[in-house]
Amino acid sequence: MTVHIGTPLQSSATRVLFLGSGELGKEVVISLQRLGVEIIAADRYDHAPAMQVAHRSYTLDMSDPVALKQLINEVQPHLIVPEIEAIATQVLLEVEAENLATVIPSAKAVNLTMNREGIRRLAAEQLGLPTSNYRFADSLESFRAACDDIGYPNFVKPVMSSSGKGQSRVTSFEQVDSAWEYAMQGGRVNQGKVIVESQIDFDFEITLLTVRAKDPESGEIATHFCDPIGHRQDAGDYVESWQPQPMTETALVEAKRIADKVTTALGGCGIFGVELFIKNDQVWFSEVSPRPHDTGLVTLASQFQNEFELHARAILGLPVNTQRHSIAASAVIYAGQDAKNLTYGNLAQALAHSDSDLRLFGKPEGFKRRRMGVATARATTTTEARDIAAHTAQLVSVKSQTD
Ligand SMILES: Nc1ncnc2c1ncn2[C@@H]1O[C@H](COP(=O)(O)OP(=O)(O)OP(=O)(O)O)[C@@H](O)[C@H]1O
Ligand SMILES: [Mg+2]
Repeated sequence: MTVHIGTPLQSSATRVLFLGSGELGKEVVISLQRLGVEIIAADRYDHAPAMQVAHRSYTLDMSDPVALKQLINEVQPHLIVPEIEAIATQVLLEVEAENLATVIPSAKAVNLTMNREGIRRLAAEQLGLPTSNYRFADSLESFRAACDDIGYPNFVKPVMSSSGKGQSRVTSFEQVDSAWEYAMQGGRVNQGKVIVESQIDFDFEITLLTVRAKDPESGEIATHFCDPIGHRQDAGDYVESWQPQPMTETALVEAKRIADKVTTALGGCGIFGVELFIKNDQVWFSEVSPRPHDTGLVTLASQFQNEFELHARAILGLPVNTQRHSIAASAVIYAGQDAKNLTYGNLAQALAHSDSDLRLFGKPEGFKRRRMGVATARATTTTEARDIAAHTAQLVSVKSQTD
């Protein structure tokens, strides 16, 4: 099996189109640039992070099938890398069926994971994986019935939403109607459908980064696992993560079994962020993203090949190494305000610890809870690494020009 990479901007170029150009895509683009790949970045706003390191970029609404098809026809990419979920995935299914480009990791994976119903039914009903109890509802009446069926507390999530949007934890019947209202406002595309999940009483949650990559000898796809990443969520958003997260051998074996099953069913090559809940030896599947995961930013500091390099290599058909060299943690830096033209200060002080590092994403506009950067740190224990990363993140001052 041979892999060829051409010369960017010449007829031999290996062209990769990014649908979504956020901070995770930016790191994948940098990894691909190092291998001489030509990058075309797209997003719904100008100067998105990955656009700033791409050869060229396009601003469009990627949930518009006509606009998306036109973009693909114009760019003629070899690979299409969806980086967000709000994409007209029907177009990707067609592109794959017509062999016009390879969709990463596969059009099926992108299509199923953009909707909580698709991936939940695959995991629980087809693959028989352990999950929370769940019901779907598409009207207030059916929602009330679903909540009563599942019991309290439960989690309500629009089937088309991410990063906690429209989600709530419902603790009693009195909250049911307002949870429905909230979900209807927070869904990405107003689909009018929600999932109601029973609460899992977990000890901790992990992301198991799982890479499907071609074996250099046989050309067959093999599955590789990174060490488990522990993380803390606040209002549906990750605040800090660390690697490794200690867990029992039995739970780790079960976590890998679940991740292997679900990623094999989704198919293709690339990295997946498999989200799991753990209690002693017991493991529940929560959800999966067929791309690098935000909690995996910690691998910038902990692994020989971070999650972005792993993705870049896997999608090109190259071998991967998921080994960790250090204990590390990451902590998020928020804008803390709604403003453009932000300035980041106190950086020398923030980076004073020799085992700390920073990424500033260069986003053109900040919102109070928008992630603008991340601090990472290495240490001899995860507790210490978390302290250093949090301290580094905290020392970065974010100001608007008008302050
Ligand atoms: N059934 C559940 N039981 C217990 N906790 C849950 C359950 N569902 C969600 N949570 C908590 O809420 C968090 C966010 O849920 P989920 O991952 O489904 O939403 P999301 O919008 O996809 O978030 P993200 O995009 O940040 O991954 C989980 O990481 C977990 O902490
Ligand atoms: Mg999640």
